[in-house]
This record gives sequence, structure tokens and C-alpha cells, in this order.
Amino acid sequence: MSFGLDGKVAIVTGASRGIGQAIAEAYAREGAKVVVASRDLARVAPVAEAIQAAGGDALAVACHTGDEAQVKALVQAALDTYGRVDIAVNNAGTNPYFGPTLFADDGIWSKTLDTNVLGYMRVIRAAVPALQQVGGGKIINLASTAGINPMPGLGVYAVTKAAVIHMTKVLAQELGGLNIQVNAIAPGVIRTKFSRLLWDTPEISERVLRGTPAGRIGEVEDVVGAALYLASPLSDYTTGTVMVMDGGALLGSVEG
Ligand SMILES: NC(=O)c1ccc[n+]([C@@H]2O[C@H](COP(=O)([O-])OP(=O)(O)OC[C@H]3O[C@@H](n4cnc5c(N)ncnc54)[C@H](OP(=O)(O)O)[C@@H]3O)[C@@H](O)[C@H]2O)c1
Repeated sequence: MSFGLDGKVAIVTGASRGIGQAIAEAYAREGAKVVVASRDLARVAPVAEAIQAAGGDALAVACHTGDEAQVKALVQAALDTYGRVDIAVNNAGTNPYFGPTLFADDGIWSKTLDTNVLGYMRVIRAAVPALQQVGGGKIINLASTAGINPMPGLGVYAVTKAAVIHMTKVLAQELGGLNIQVNAIAPGVIRTKFSRLLWDTPEISERVLRGTPAGRIGEVEDVVGAALYLASPLSDYTTGTVMVMDGGALLGSVEG
């Protein structure tokens, strides 16, 4: 099956490792030109180099999504290099705090909201005019199952991911007339640096596994299928949705 990404241009934020890297590599394998971004060019450049070495086309750009000017420059770099933007993947996320929500101070709230919510909006604001130039496109927001059901210790993060899900629905309504589809991906626990505490702390990972019918921690490749579908013309009549890949964890404990 072809995902129809040949000749398309995709921007992926937070692509220096983890889920963003896997999504960028998958898009490149399907023929898209990918603009991979992270805060540090030295960390993200090797991802572009590996894509090129595998026969794909990629550009690495340093972009902190907390800085509107850098986000605008990211979209401009895609336009300057490839002449168009068809797909924007909001993936750069953060979680600086694990603990009771009551004890999270304003600094923690500001940092988490700024990256996970305002950062996504900055990318969308910058990308929409470019998507309009090609008659429409795709916006894909990495949410989390924590944005659907709270997870212990992850309250602040969960609130921002719930906001991402609602942002997705709001913008799907507002941008539908521009032929821009806006969808969210909500993974459960996926084995990356970001989630290390959850899969590498025995007491926590045992609890996660007990609550996951699939009986294993997710891998980045488990997220790629949804990201391909939502970037593809196959999903042109799908907007405002949340695709969950959590091994069934939202269903509750496998032990009843
Ligand atoms: N892993 C999970 O279990 C899981 C579950 C549900 C949802 N998610 C979501 O999936 C997304 C990716 O997570 P991941 O697990 O792949 O995390 P990760 O391995 O830690 O990767 C995060 C990426 O984001 C970049 N980044 C962080 N803050 C940034 C900022 N302000 N501006 C630009 N880039 C930034 C990092 O690169 P630099 O350090 O080079 O900037 C890195 O490339 C996040 O939105 C996360 O909330 C993850």
C-alpha cells in the first residue's frame, strides 16, 4: 500500500530522537522530504544525515518551539529548501515534573504549557499559510493517553495533553474549510528517553504492564502507522480525531 507521500514535504519537531525521529524516518521511507527540527542542531543533524544515507531527502534545522521567531524560521527553511509544506507534526514535548499536581509551582506550569500547548500553536500559526499555498495539508499533534485518563504523578503533563486534544478538535473545526486536517495521536507508554522513569523503574513498569492488555511497553514503531495514515491522502476525510496506541491500557487493568 502506498501512503501517497511522494513529493510531499513534512516538518517534524522534536525529531532528534524518540517518536519524532521514527516518524521522520518513516515519512522519508515513503518518499516525503522531511525537515527535522530540535533545539540543538548537533543532535538533530545526524538524523537528517542518516535519512540521506538511506536514500531519502532531509534537512536539519535548530528550532526551539518556545521561540516564535525560530518557529517561523523553521517553516521558512522548509519553503526555501523544498518550496512547499504539506505536513506539520507537532511532536516536541516536555515533562519537567513528576509528582503531586498540588505542589507544582508556576514555573513548572509555565514551562510545560509553553512547550506542550503554546509551542504547538506557534508551529500551527506558522505552518497554516504554507499549507494554504498548496491547497491544504495535514497537522498532526502528539498528545498522550495521559490527556484522556490521568496518570499518577503526571498531572501537569496530563492537563497540557488534554489541551492538545481539545486544540486539535478546535482547529479541525476552524481549518476544515481550508482543506487542512488536524488530528492527534495519543500513545500510551512508549520506550524513549522521555518516558524512561515509567519503563525503567521496576515498581512503575510492573504497574504499567499490569494495566496493559498487550503485555509489553510500546516501541516508537508502534506510533508510526498512525502518523503515516494521518499524513496521507488516505485520511483526507478524517479530522479532529484522536488515534490511540496504548496496547489497550485505557481499557484498564488486565487483572480485573
Ligand atoms: N514516550 C512516551 O511514552 C510518550 C507517550 C505519550 C506521548 N508522548 C509524546 O510524544 C512526543 C515525543 O516524545 P518522546 O517520547 O519521543 O520524547 P523524547 O525522546 O524525549 O524526544 C523529545 C524530542 O523533543 C525535542 N524537544 C524537547 N523540547 C523541545 C523544544 N522546546 N523545542 C524543540 N524541540 C524540543 C528533543 O530534542 P532536543 O533535546 O534535541 O531539543 C527531542 O527530539 C512528546 O510530545 C510526548 O509528550 C510520549
